[in-house]
Amino acid sequence: MSHPTADLRVVLVVASVRPDRFGSTVAAWATARIVAHGGTCLDVVDLMELDLPAGLDGGGDTERWRSRVDAADAFVVLTPEYNHGYPGYLKTAIDSVVDEWQAKPVAFVSYGGGAGGARSVEQLRQVFAELDAVTVRESVTLVRVWDMFDDGGCLGSPAGPDRAMRAMLDRLIWWGWTLRAARPPAALAEVAS
Ligand SMILES: Cc1cc2nc3c(=O)[nH]c(=O)nc-3n(C[C@H](O)[C@H](O)[C@H](O)COP(=O)(O)O)c2cc1C
Repeated sequence: MSHPTADLRVVLVVASVRPDRFGSTVAAWATARIVAHGGTCLDVVDLMELDLPAGLDGGGDTERWRSRVDAADAFVVLTPEYNHGYPGYLKTAIDSVVDEWQAKPVAFVSYGGGAGGARSVEQLRQVFAELDAVTVRESVTLVRVWDMFDDGGCLGSPAGPDRAMRAMLDRLIWWGWTLRAARPPAALAEVAS
């Protein structure tokens, strides 16, 4: 499938909001890999920097978050695993906007202990299905993540994760362009509804 020359707009969502999170290291690596892959225009949204009220009735940074989700063609959600689940604040962020997720692909980079965040990802697939988003089969799963990176934030054995990232991004970009072509412009969607 040939694509227009403009880049696909991808949002990387950094889900951990713990002050001493390992997620910053993983986010720096993921950002570098996405940029190196090419073909996308990347917006990194760090949930730690957004005030999204738990009441889910707007306020705080909800409109700022909405506009960034709205502008995106595709998403990479970077999530850890806490007690076999994904972070609660990520759920608040997902639920804070609704229509803006629709008909867009969502891919995952997960990290954690023995399961590398895979349980978080499987739960998130259910959540995004309800929002009419399409989750991408290929994902990046970083097991015992704290052993994988050196103090400088470099992977000791990058071949596997880099390969998984390329496969995930290839598929995300394919879905991104495909669904972007299928989504009606906002004005048409309003007329149709
Ligand atoms: C409260 C808590 C619960 C955790 N539960 C799990 C778990 O169930 N499975 C797992 O693989 N790792 C678990 N971990 C390990 C985290 O996934 C790991 O520490 C990861 O780096 C957390 O991401 P963050 O530092 O970016 O917040 C847990 C960590 C915390 C703090």
